Amino acid sequence: MTQINRRRPNLTKIRLSTGSYHLGLESWSPSHILLFTGNLKEKVDFYTNVLGMRLSDTMGGDVVAFLRNGNGGDHHVIALAQSEKPGFHHASFEFGTVDDIGVAAANMAKKGHKHCWGFGRHVVGSNYFHYFRDPWGSIVEHFADIDIVDEDQDWEIKDWPLEGNFARWVSDGPLPDDFLFNSEA
Ligand SMILES: [Fe+2]
Repeated sequence: MTQINRRRPNLTKIRLSTGSYHLGLESWSPSHILLFTGNLKEKVDFYTNVLGMRLSDTMGGDVVAFLRNGNGGDHHVIALAQSEKPGFHHASFEFGTVDDIGVAAANMAKKGHKHCWGFGRHVVGSNYFHYFRDPWGSIVEHFADIDIVDEDQDWEIKDWPLEGNFARWVSDGPLPDDFLFNSEA
């Protein structure tokens, strides 16, 4: 019989961190953004051919594009979504563990910030996610365990259909109707 190891090495850190989300959790780090744009294809061309970023994946053909650093790293550090006008969709913050995401969620709720979507796991990028509304109608994402693409990795760009590919699983139901709402348009 396999014995389950119930030791949790992060427990002490989590206890010390509880209540300090400001984002005071020790493992917290700003990570990526998703922006709306009126000209997705031109922007992808600029970020890749001028700035040297790499296209990781797309969704819906020309609806969403995920870009990573040219020297590798997170699956996306900038994501772009087609819209009528430019706008800000979400800022994303990386946490070291799923437990930290839970602590952050509890503190966001305690401070009165409105839940948006999650807890769940994305298909594209594979990261665990939990979204909250910011005070201006945009979104804050907390995430962990995103795909890492090495600089010399033979990564195949895939276009994912929009339907059914926002989450591998999610705890609170389907994608909200207003999730891709551009509050600045
Ligand atoms: Fe994100």
